Amino acid sequence: MTQSSPRRPLTVASLAAMKQRAEPIVALTAYDFSFARALDEAGVDLVLVGDSLGMVVQGHDTTLPVTMDEMIYHSRCTAAGLERAVLMVDMPFMSHISPDEALRNAGRLMKEGGAQMVKLEGGQEQAEVVRRLAENGIPVCAHLGLRPQSVHKLGGYRVQGREAGTAERMCQDALALQQAGADLLLLECVPVELAGRIRREIRLPVIGIGAGPDIDGQILVLHDMLGLTPGRAPRFVRNFMLDASSIQEALARYADAVRNAEFPAAEHCFQ
Ligand code: KIV
Repeated sequence: MTQSSPRRPLTVASLAAMKQRAEPIVALTAYDFSFARALDEAGVDLVLVGDSLGMVVQGHDTTLPVTMDEMIYHSRCTAAGLERAVLMVDMPFMSHISPDEALRNAGRLMKEGGAQMVKLEGGQEQAEVVRRLAENGIPVCAHLGLRPQSVHKLGGYRVQGREAGTAERMCQDALALQQAGADLLLLECVPVELAGRIRREIRLPVIGIGAGPDIDGQILVLHDMLGLTPGRAPRFVRNFMLDASSIQEALARYADAVRNAEFPAAEHCFQ
């Protein structure tokens, strides 16, 4: 039997190699074929089918109603548009409440949805889940900081880790998840200094949304950076459509801005 190489040139291992080379990882969300293709052509390295689709595609107030079947459907649509980028897919709310349940659901995202990596929200209490997935060959991105699936527990969409105790806990969570076998860490709405500290304390690539520039890559929700989300945009968002004449140009400008360390700027960061 001859060995065939994966269809896509970028893999989860490429993300670690990019960190080694200090090459910023450019990431964005997508939920369908057409946008996936546009992101791929713009040179986005990592595409996330986020459960943010519950808000920006389905019109819910939170990500909580999104189901496994919906994630698989959008993952399959998105996978069809990618030739280069790594495809990461969110485990929706309540889909990883035990290692067995997580393995079954993450397996579906990969087999039926074409995911190359799954992302799940949670700290050290998720270490057993991450370990089980890693042992079964499933790459995992751990999501710390603001965890939108816990919005009701957190009391809103707020910056996390401003107090010494919660900052320390987040560092411990990151180390525990790395130890359990995670391949990537995503930090959401975390003060710049804490994000930089976590990046220095772990060896995994760290990407962030509202986590400042002192990490290995940046991600935004596609609809936010195209200025499509109604209402006031969160502080960490820049509308790349404002000085672009097409969606393709906005995507290319985002990729350039991340690679040239022009985004995020001070006004997008939390202290
Ligand atoms: O679901 C999503 O889009 C996310 C982003 C906030 C990164 O997790």
